[in-house]
Amino acid sequence: MIALELKSISKHFGGVTALENVSFKLEQGKTLGLIGGNGSGKTTLLNVITKMISPNSGEVHFKGKRVDNLPAYKIARLGIGRIFQIGGIFNNMTLLENLFVATNSGNEEEAERILNEVGLVQKKNEKAATLSGGQQRLLEFGRVMIRNDELILLDEPFAGVSEGNCKKIEEVIGKLQKEGKTIILIEHDSKRIKRICNQLIELDEGKLAKKTNID
Ligand SMILES: Nc1ncnc2c1ncn2[C@@H]1O[C@H](COP(=O)(O)OP(=O)(O)O)[C@@H](O)[C@H]1O
Ligand SMILES: [Mg+2]
Repeated sequence: MIALELKSISKHFGGVTALENVSFKLEQGKTLGLIGGNGSGKTTLLNVITKMISPNSGEVHFKGKRVDNLPAYKIARLGIGRIFQIGGIFNNMTLLENLFVATNSGNEEEAERILNEVGLVQKKNEKAATLSGGQQRLLEFGRVMIRNDELILLDEPFAGVSEGNCKKIEEVIGKLQKEGKTIILIEHDSKRIKRICNQLIELDEGKLAKKTNID
């Protein structure tokens, strides 16, 4: 089954073409690596999928249904989750509270199980502000896990993260893949991309320059 399809997406910011006629299909359960130089449109592509910005033209389909006409909060409710580089968590809440607000439920057992999976259960009652950058990223992974998102968008999740936490993040991505989640990963390290991804798309000045299958 096709989880995600982009049909001829274009996005301009004034005179800048961020995306031009980008089309691709991503099968459910696959991980797509998204590469390209600075300013090539990678983040804009994720912003279009989550409707943080509207494309000038083109369509986004999720599980066979057109979604680019929906507001961002409805797209999130369909099971599309995103991990931000900064600002994705609530610093003044504990780790457990961060997971509770992600689902509107207070199932502590489930939240603890997930904190354990991301390696943070021993800090469950501490404020999220006390976590390192990498740990905050892992807490965000916990949020998409407790929400049970089906499509997970990762914008450079390894950037600025310690080696140990990078390992942990890679392990967590592996778990999500085993559960059959569909993932888009923006990442610069080509070895890591090859280890993690099934397919690769390269953007060049907003155009889809190359599509490769890794396995
Ligand atoms: N909100 C915005 N307003 C104006 N220009 C933007 C905006 N977002 C992105 N751009 C421009 O669009 C292009 C693509 O940016 P971006 O998608 O962030 O690239 P990448 O993530 O590949 O580095 C760049 O030229 C960038 O300056
Ligand atoms: Mg970017």
